Amino acid sequence: MSTLSVFGSQWGDEGKGKIIDLLAGRADVVCRYQGGANAGHTVVVDGEKFVLHLLPSGVLQEGKVNLIGNGVALDPIVLLEEMDGLAERGIVIDPERLRLSAAAHVILEVHQRLDHAFERWRGEGRIGTTGRGIGPAYADKASRTGLRVGDLVSPERLRARLEAFLPVKNAILERVCEAEPFDLEELFERYVAVGERLRPFVADAGHELRELWRANKRILFEGAQGAMLDIDHGTYPYVTSSNTGAAGIAPGMGFPPSAIGEVWGVAKAYCTRVGEGPFPSEIFGDDAERLRALGNEYGATTGRPRRCGWFDTVAVRYALELNGATGLVMTNLDVLSGYERIPVVTHYDLPSLGQRGLTRFPAELADLGEVDVRVEERPGWNEDISGVREFSDLPEAAREYVRWIEGEIGVPIVLLSVGPERESIIPRVSGTLVGA
Ligand code: GDP
Ligand code: IMO
Ligand code: MG
Repeated sequence: MSTLSVFGSQWGDEGKGKIIDLLAGRADVVCRYQGGANAGHTVVVDGEKFVLHLLPSGVLQEGKVNLIGNGVALDPIVLLEEMDGLAERGIVIDPERLRLSAAAHVILEVHQRLDHAFERWRGEGRIGTTGRGIGPAYADKASRTGLRVGDLVSPERLRARLEAFLPVKNAILERVCEAEPFDLEELFERYVAVGERLRPFVADAGHELRELWRANKRILFEGAQGAMLDIDHGTYPYVTSSNTGAAGIAPGMGFPPSAIGEVWGVAKAYCTRVGEGPFPSEIFGDDAERLRALGNEYGATTGRPRRCGWFDTVAVRYALELNGATGLVMTNLDVLSGYERIPVVTHYDLPSLGQRGLTRFPAELADLGEVDVRVEERPGWNEDISGVREFSDLPEAAREYVRWIEGEIGVPIVLLSVGPERESIIPRVSGTLVGA
């Protein structure tokens, strides 16, 4: 197997960063193909914690090629800050290790200001975005008014693009949003310097990836966000602005869809969501506080407390089906230690439509907001399992929890994660990128 795609199969923050970092140890290339600095991917190596927003989670393993594809909405200031932060910790990223697509769209401060202004405007209907300018930048891409990395690294093109772009944005900021406009010269000066620093990293990333693939290199695709935040298939409009699953790889990297091999979803042994929108298996009050405290469920990008809930087999099965997943990685199993019984959502009821016992995720947001969930309580365990490395060493109830969910979702659970550290992993299959 030469390619493996790993995507979030809930509402983001499933632990993708940790898994990609681990798998990268046995890969040659790691690609980010969509999303932007709305992502916060946490990797813990030797007790040191790293939160990556734009850099692929292969950067902490030595000697890997990391590619940022054209489908990423790239905030060049965040990228440079991230690289500087790593350099201060002794990890220097040179242009051989990081290749940046010239066709990736650039997020400017203008997009962030618009993101905040639009959220204010939405009022009660706000999405709860990360404020990183994601929506406005992808909107510019679709409207064909955006700036790309190739423009950023050429002062003439940058000026020309800004001259075309800024007057409209300033008019919207001032006249519609009652927000501060930007000065073209100031913006130009700031981004020319940024472009100058990034120039050595800029490449035809799609071409380089296809060459690496032809040379039989092992390629990992790192999804950001999660299936339920997918712009087409998620809980629209409470979603992000890109295709978050394996389907985003071909357009987002310039990689043939027919070459996308193994596809693994990542899901927590329970579920979380940040931001607004429906979350059928959500729990509240003391139950939510307990799970949030046990899982330390605070956003890696914004620090917001995450909404918490139980594993939802209806939603995860939908995510896996949509992506043609061949495996599931279950994370945070350790967090459930100490629960006497663990509720799992198995069915939705939609009383207003007279539908009961649904096992299929409703397509309409209005329906989703109204579902009543049915839960089945599974037996829990008391032991601390964070030191376990073999499936057979898990308490029987934990093994049973995993096997039972596996039966419900119809996809093998290939890896179990039992802690934030790279080593805290229990493999269930061999012969994969992780295998022996
Ligand atoms: P991502 O966005 O999918 O990469 O996930 P985040 O990094 O936003 O959130 C996952 C959080 O869970 C981070 O704080 C990780 O360090 C942590 N984490 C990952 N896997 C495990 C696990 O198996 N057990 C525990 N307790 N924490 C984990
Ligand atoms: P990772 O890759 C969790 C959520 C935001 C908001 C919605 C839209 O770390 O799993 P946006 O800024 O994208 O316009 O916000 O999407 N969101 C995430 N939630 N994890 C993420 O990324 C997210 N990226 C965006 O909270 O609800
Ligand atoms: Mg995250």
